Amino acid sequence: NEKVPEDKSLDNSLALMQEGYLFIKNRVDKYQSDLFETRLLGQKVICMSGEEAAKVFYDPERFQRTGAAPKRVQKTLFGVNAIQTMDGQAHKHRKHLFMSLMTPSHQNRLADLVMEQWQASATKLEGAGRIVLFDEAQMVLCRVACHWAGVPLKESEVKERAKDFSAMVDAFGALGPRHWKGRRARRRAEEWIKEVIEDVRAGKLMANEGSVLYAMAFHKELDGTQLDTQMAAIELINVLRPIVAIATFITFTALALHENPEWKGKLCSGDSDDLERFIQEVRRYYPFGPFLGARVRRDFSWNQCEFKEGMLVLLDMYGTNHDSRLWERPDEFRPERFKEWKGSLFDFIPQGGGDPAMGHRCPGEGITVEVMKASLDFIANKIDYEVPEQDLSYSLTKMPTLPESGFIISNMRQKE
Ligand code: HEM
Repeated sequence: NEKVPEDKSLDNSLALMQEGYLFIKNRVDKYQSDLFETRLLGQKVICMSGEEAAKVFYDPERFQRTGAAPKRVQKTLFGVNAIQTMDGQAHKHRKHLFMSLMTPSHQNRLADLVMEQWQASATKLEGAGRIVLFDEAQMVLCRVACHWAGVPLKESEVKERAKDFSAMVDAFGALGPRHWKGRRARRRAEEWIKEVIEDVRAGKLMANEGSVLYAMAFHKELDGTQLDTQMAAIELINVLRPIVAIATFITFTALALHENPEWKGKLCSGDSDDLERFIQEVRRYYPFGPFLGARVRRDFSWNQCEFKEGMLVLLDMYGTNHDSRLWERPDEFRPERFKEWKGSLFDFIPQGGGDPAMGHRCPGEGITVEVMKASLDFIANKIDYEVPEQDLSYSLTKMPTLPESGFIISNMRQKE
């Protein structure tokens, strides 16, 4: 691959830890190339960025997920051998199960539950001193996710369970203590949810037909067999955990409102289009998922680069969402840009690209958008609060990241 820029260095793993979300973008900008080769964790890797790269990355003839996700990510974030690692017909069949649980009526139901829970929290917390919005959001979302899915959850458990779901997410880019905390959290959650699945199957716990719990407990594989309890638990957690993870985006939403106070007035009518453009810009502008990995399925060449079977390839999510060829002045927060957005499947990829029913793109985007809109409506229009002195900065090298303080509000009171 003589014509492809090579980021020469024995191994770039350290640079990746030091540059975090900007690792791929820094080099794509430096070499003025959509892709470059490097070495990470002892192997040759191709990194690529942009809309065209995303189209290639989501071509199932060229890429597969089997063998792509490191075990350390599976043991924390995904669950071992879950949907994220599947390919072909088996993946499509499993994906259909997830897609069927994320329809517009489910999205609206979740949005209503989220608004109800936020208001219940506000009633309880009115007059309290300082509230860490990130912590409160995790608990609100954990209650909502379990209630909606049909998973029993006592109020006394909410805090610990919410922390465990978050710890699995927090582990994905980490070495050391954050990684081990994520592993322990996953073990606890899998034990808990396995028992719930067993109880449903044994008829000791009622699950409504149409609920996520029922769907996971009784899903049949292509060969007609049931998932084993471990896998059913892992996939049920693949619905609960990411709903709790929306707390990160909600915290960034509050930060966006704080950094762009002129928007408070624009959002006060509660107009759905305005709320939507604002939260879309939050999903584009702020960092959450950094990049995705897949392995070359069979040899091909693209952009004068030879992709060899088995090679690991990373697609830059953060960089594509900040690509100046796709987004005018990408480093400005401007929700109105979404008035003109054409809705391409490959240029706006905070939750992956392509068609979610056919590939690995997140099935939960509709849910994420509606839950964020309801939360923004609550924060902007249902409460007043002050933002005391605190450290609101967020690191672009820590993955995943968050405003340092978790966004503290004080003197919160309900409007009207
Ligand atoms: C996959 C991000 C919320 C369920 C993904 C992927 C990303 C992502 C980047 C991988 C795409 C790929 O591999 O090509 C996010 C973010 C969320 C979020 C940033 C907001 C917090 C949700 C929600 C759900 C969900 C709310 C479910 C209720 C899933 C599942 C997959 C997935 C099951 C695996 C899909 C597959 O492998 O086919 N998500 N997601 N996510 N997400 Fe989300």
